[in-house]
Amino acid sequence: MLYIGVDLGTSAVKLLLMDEKGRIQNVVSKEYPLFFPHPGWSEQNPQDWFTETMAGLKELLKDADKSQVAGLSFGGQMHGLVILDEKDEVIRPAILWNDGRTYEECDYLNNVIGKEKLSAYTANISFTGFTAPKLLWVKNKEPENFARIKKIMLPKDYLAYMLTGIHCTDVSDASGMLLFDVKNRCWSKEMCDICSVQEEQLAKIYESYECVGCLKPEIAKELGVPETVKVAAGAGDNAAAAVGTGTVGDGRCNISLGTSGTVFIASKNFGVDKYNALHSFAHADGTYHLMGCMLSAASCNKWWMDDIIGTKDYGKEQENIEKLGENHVYFLPYLMGERSPHNNPNARGTFVGMTMDTSRADMTQAVLEGVAFALRDSLEVAKSLGIHIERTKICGGGAKSPLWRRIIANVLNLKVDILESEEGPAMGGAMLAAVACGEYASVEDAAEKLVKVVDTVEPEPELAAKYEERYAQFKEIYPALKPVFELIK
Ligand code: XUL
Repeated sequence: MLYIGVDLGTSAVKLLLMDEKGRIQNVVSKEYPLFFPHPGWSEQNPQDWFTETMAGLKELLKDADKSQVAGLSFGGQMHGLVILDEKDEVIRPAILWNDGRTYEECDYLNNVIGKEKLSAYTANISFTGFTAPKLLWVKNKEPENFARIKKIMLPKDYLAYMLTGIHCTDVSDASGMLLFDVKNRCWSKEMCDICSVQEEQLAKIYESYECVGCLKPEIAKELGVPETVKVAAGAGDNAAAAVGTGTVGDGRCNISLGTSGTVFIASKNFGVDKYNALHSFAHADGTYHLMGCMLSAASCNKWWMDDIIGTKDYGKEQENIEKLGENHVYFLPYLMGERSPHNNPNARGTFVGMTMDTSRADMTQAVLEGVAFALRDSLEVAKSLGIHIERTKICGGGAKSPLWRRIIANVLNLKVDILESEEGPAMGGAMLAAVACGEYASVEDAAEKLVKVVDTVEPEPELAAKYEERYAQFKEIYPALKPVFELIK
């Protein structure tokens, strides 16, 4: 049997075809545009996601025995707001997870409604990228659009809707809307009232590994696959990546180095970080997780390489980096503001500490290190909650760089397990489909059988000690610059 994982990312949709033994048969990626209509805003056209997903599915299945396709599921960029009218037409471009326009609505939610209430209703507080403040923004700034809303959905759920005709979501992705009672895995009536949302506008909730239905007959025909192909609800990309990297079971950790950077900690039990600096979300395996999310991770390196120094050869650029742990240049990776742990849409990317002998390699190194230090910020919050982590998995585009993996192992002082497949969310999506089809008894069972560690990057005591000192300095930079970010906003 064959299973398809669809990872609806921010720069591209990645599609993966896997057989029942977890062997990857094909991987295809299709890009679509990302729009920044104002500084700090971030939008995409849902129609582009669907068009490229269909084109990608056809390419993925070109040489496969299509009659063997049994299931399909998703990992998807989280928190994005997709709104449809009564004719099922998209009302406005999707407002994405890294969009910072909703600071006034967040201020209202966190300070007028109050963080205690939000945390009691949803296990989380408001961040600009979350879905509920975006709904309030549409209500305040585009009332004519708000009045037309018939269906509210998350990015991957728009794909599921187009493929199946079913308005569904899953617990992990719903957790990031701030409309969801994470502990009890249901919509929060209080939050719906606060945001003027009717429950009928929201999707039916499933566990990530549950089958929501089958492909529409016309879609199955267009793709040349059986009409019986089952579609599972899928997960937010971080929970899907956790499944794809075997980060299920208590206390396991995964770091994702994609456009965003996340530290994901699986937990059998529901728990809330008392500072609400980490998100408390439902996991795709039926349990829970804590997560810190930085808004710009591998995207900082991409920006630095592509847009600033103008090269596509990331590997060659990294070959010139020799002085690990001794860089006197620091980089704050807040190119889109920052979520965890600072929750500040006005924070900005910053280089600090250059001198006349600073080289291009030092600056490149600072970018890689700055992302690692910012991930460490989230890990520190987890440590302060008494969570003990010794090792982590790693996935995402940035995880392909051996140098970056080494920097992360030493800055975070964690053993970093390298997996046979780096296709985190797409692999997780395919695994969720396989569970929905009964190929595996549970998500945990699939993870145990399919995920293989091939290498481990160990922290080097001397280097880790040097980075300990550097991190102590890095930590001082953001508080010192915070008033400046307010001035220049
Ligand atoms: C998680 C988050 C990002 C997006 C990226 O809270 O906002 O990781 O899911 O796709």
